[in-house]
Amino acid sequence: MVNVYELARRRKSIRRYFSDPVPLEHVLYAIKTAMQAPSGANRQPWRFIIVDDPKVKSEIRRVAEEWERKLHESETIPGWFREWLRERGITWRKDFLTDAPYLIVVLANKRAPYARESVWLAVGYLLLALEEKGLASLTYTPTNPRAIARILWVPEQYTLETIIPVGLPRGDKVKEPRMSLEEAVYYNRWGSHG
Ligand SMILES: Cc1cc2nc3c(=O)[nH]c(=O)nc-3n(C[C@H](O)[C@H](O)[C@H](O)COP(=O)(O)O)c2cc1C
Repeated sequence: MVNVYELARRRKSIRRYFSDPVPLEHVLYAIKTAMQAPSGANRQPWRFIIVDDPKVKSEIRRVAEEWERKLHESETIPGWFREWLRERGITWRKDFLTDAPYLIVVLANKRAPYARESVWLAVGYLLLALEEKGLASLTYTPTNPRAIARILWVPEQYTLETIIPVGLPRGDKVKEPRMSLEEAVYYNRWGSHG
């Protein structure tokens, strides 16, 4: 039985996928786990749309890339971020939106208290549950979430928070480094190491 730290340590963002099918029950297990997360006033503001229809995936990709391309070609991306993206080979192309067998579109009910905080907390649970099942994932945050929500007939009351491709990883990607406990944790006062 693998512990939570081990799952968290192992889990990494994957941007290239095989199109091989993976069990839907694993995806549902991960969503069931996500739904155990706490939420503001227990309003459970999350909704999930599982997309496996190639036509719908293609349409999502077309719209996502249209906006990504505009962003990548504009001057708005700061230099350090452009370099970070370049080093990782991240471009406006989002092959994972059509390659991954499943996309989980995560929505938040705007009218619920702390909706976004609650939904992202649930996303954290979801990622770990996918990792437990040996499935790769990415929290892709599209440039124009509303345009994609429209394709999926999402009502105005819900915002599209992220699209999570789920599948088997293609290629070997290293996990991004993490800072040390010392760098991130203080005791009693900012900057104090006790
Ligand atoms: C809120 C949030 C938004 C993100 N948006 C994107 C995104 O749009 N595209 C992408 O390729 N990665 C995205 N990521 C993934 C991060 O780049 C990744 O988690 C980070 O670089 C650490 O890498 P690791 O997850 O492999 O450890 C996002 C992550 C978070 C938490």
